[in-house]
Amino acid sequence: MTKIAVLVSGSGSNLQALIDANLSGQIVGVISNKPEAYALERAKKAGIQTAVIEHKQYPNREAFDDVMHQQLLDWNVDLVVLAGFMRILSAKFVKAWEGKMLNIHPSLLPNYKGMHTHQRVLNTGDVLHGCTVHYVTAELDAGQALAQGLLKVNVHDDVNTLADRVHVLEHVIYPQVVEWICSGTIRHTEQGVLYRGQAMQEPVQFCKF
Ligand code: GRF
Repeated sequence: MTKIAVLVSGSGSNLQALIDANLSGQIVGVISNKPEAYALERAKKAGIQTAVIEHKQYPNREAFDDVMHQQLLDWNVDLVVLAGFMRILSAKFVKAWEGKMLNIHPSLLPNYKGMHTHQRVLNTGDVLHGCTVHYVTAELDAGQALAQGLLKVNVHDDVNTLADRVHVLEHVIYPQVVEWICSGTIRHTEQGVLYRGQAMQEPVQFCKF
């Protein structure tokens, strides 16, 4: 059974979606870099062990990442799921978990890497927006995309409505991708990412229109 750790910094609605999905893998632990993150309450309610590792208590990024790495090893983790984890990870940490670490980003990557994605979509006047689940690599928001949730931007949308609408999609696609990894439907191999035994050319798309 795939042992999953979820890394969080905030509300943890994606963590909740993963908990509620009854995955065939097991969420063995939740790590937060913020002691006040509501995600920790969600984990405790679900009976999942938690670890607070405060980045501020370490002299640099590598020292912080080393402690997280050790915690993940102690839990025997197979898959690391970033769910609103607001720290950039060191190259060494990313390398150690390459092919075993996922992130969800609130845009249709490769568009709008980084922050403030909803505002940037509105500024540009895009018609399509959404979210992307991808493997984590050293370059920010640039690892192979596995799934995307798409929606149409309405004339009445603002940053808040877009954020809410994208969140709804996130809660569908993230548990789905994690389940595909747990079940072997998606596999990270030396030859590349396989989806249902075939090389994955494009992310699987989920449309909300
Ligand atoms: C999500 O919007 C996700 O795309 C981004 O961080 C947010 C986390 O939300 N990476 P939550 O804490 O899961 O509610």
